[in-house]
Amino acid sequence: MSILLAADFTAAEWAAWWPALRAALPAETLVREGSEPAGFQLTDVDIALVANPPQGLLARMPSLRLIQSLWAGVDRLLADASLPRDVLLARMVDPAMSEAIAQTALWAVLSLHRRYFDYAAQQQRRDWQQLVQRRADEVAVAVLGLGEMGRAAALRLADNGYRVAGWSSRPVQLARITTFSGTTALASVLGQSEIVVNLLPLTPATRGLFGASTLMQMRRGASLVNLGRGGHVVEPDLLNALATGQLRRAVLDVFASEPLARDHAFWTHPQISVLPHIAALTDPRSAAQVVARNVNALRSGAPPAHLVEHARGY
Ligand code: GLV
Repeated sequence: MSILLAADFTAAEWAAWWPALRAALPAETLVREGSEPAGFQLTDVDIALVANPPQGLLARMPSLRLIQSLWAGVDRLLADASLPRDVLLARMVDPAMSEAIAQTALWAVLSLHRRYFDYAAQQQRRDWQQLVQRRADEVAVAVLGLGEMGRAAALRLADNGYRVAGWSSRPVQLARITTFSGTTALASVLGQSEIVVNLLPLTPATRGLFGASTLMQMRRGASLVNLGRGGHVVEPDLLNALATGQLRRAVLDVFASEPLARDHAFWTHPQISVLPHIAALTDPRSAAQVVARNVNALRSGAPPAHLVEHARGY
């Protein structure tokens, strides 16, 4: 049987992924979608490693037993109506990505708290002004989503002295973090937080979460850091909340449509910081080991780790 790698990688990404996977899976036949060897057939594939695979491809592999996402978020895969629902689907859970997310969350919160974005704007105007300096423990931060990444971010923020509340749909216990769950609690967490970091998975339940009514539940003048998915935010409602002063700033790594269109209003908005979906890139060096563990589990009859529950959407 073969392992098919189907990904919309750039040449540089292929150059990093291919040798990392070859080294991690020395006994496996690895095939790259788009440069299949002569005689190869999709019926040979029992494991697919995927990053934005072509729509419909996974439905054409009758022997498929495991789909391993190379991305943490599987919302795009689940949105493909032809995804075979009876095949195991695993998310990428890599400690290196959790570390990257923790760093990005800390960078964004520090930048907001220490007014980096305001000072950058002042620099543009050659404006020398010292703004009020506050202590980290005066800044209440909420982290929405307490999966691997949300937990890593929440703990890193707490380590740096912030007052951190964590919210998740289902109850989660986390040392040093005050945690909440459920819709009613969400409104009160949002109402108390100066900075909200979104790390929820995108599911039918969370799509459009940051629309007008949730944005109104946030504390006036709060900032939103979206490291989840663009689909969590209703973009016109966000623009409106920034215009009315309900929100002070948004730091956005993800967008409804990516790459962000060149004429999109966010690019030049003075209260929005745009990042090109880089909060946690999958690192082939560590991710290849994660893939190998799941491949080896499947081959030895053990359950692969981090399987998606279709009913909950992640
Ligand atoms: C990045 O957004 C990922 O899902 O890995």
